Amino acid sequence: MTDFTIYNFTSLESTNDTAKNYTDNFSVIVAGEQTKGKGRRGKTWISPKGGLYFSVVITDPDLLNLGIYSLTAALSLCEALPAEANAKIKWPNDILIGGKKVSGILLETATDPSRLIIGIGINISSFPKESLLSYAATSLKNENITITKDELLASLLDRLANNLTLPLQQIITLWQKNAIGIGKDIKVTLAKGTLFGVFKGLDAKGNLILSTKNKEKPDKIISCGEIYF
Ligand code: BTN
Repeated sequence: MTDFTIYNFTSLESTNDTAKNYTDNFSVIVAGEQTKGKGRRGKTWISPKGGLYFSVVITDPDLLNLGIYSLTAALSLCEALPAEANAKIKWPNDILIGGKKVSGILLETATDPSRLIIGIGINISSFPKESLLSYAATSLKNENITITKDELLASLLDRLANNLTLPLQQIITLWQKNAIGIGKDIKVTLAKGTLFGVFKGLDAKGNLILSTKNKEKPDKIISCGEIYF
């Protein structure tokens, strides 16, 4: 069993930023609230008391494929939530319950490029008003899922420790089993532009495969973007 060392804080600006000061593998920085919580694409992650906010430090001299850590973290959270939540993964690493986002994951590298920070935020007792977001959100409480923050953190770290030992292909298979949208028409927004097509699944590196309607054109392989159904 992997040994995680947990550091608890009442309040931090961002657990990801604090985690960058920790060099030991499997350090876990937990905050009761964040005053400058960070989301993907430069957005804010609204982090009042009552939510679960933490960052796991991973040291890996061979950090070639960040994407696989992102998929592994999402799979681990999906597995850690109680079965009645029927949680699903939305590519690459959002967790949805009843089609609404309950958790987000932000990966960052520290100044030392062999150190990865996996930051996870979970809405436990509240969620931001929809007027503040560009997507539908929910919380575990709102979905009548009863699990304490400590239980969820322990369960998630247990699943993460296990999944980090699995071969990439197995992670991809398990991720796909727990994902939504495979086989469906999707829109993908990229840093530059938007694509439409069918979400075929993941390639061997964990990238999204998008088949466009034009059969003469090859599938598009997407490593970074936002999908919409
Ligand atoms: C997203 O936009 O979906 C990603 C949200 C990630 C939020 C978590 S909360 C813990 C960690 N610290 C941060 O500042 N952000 C991540």
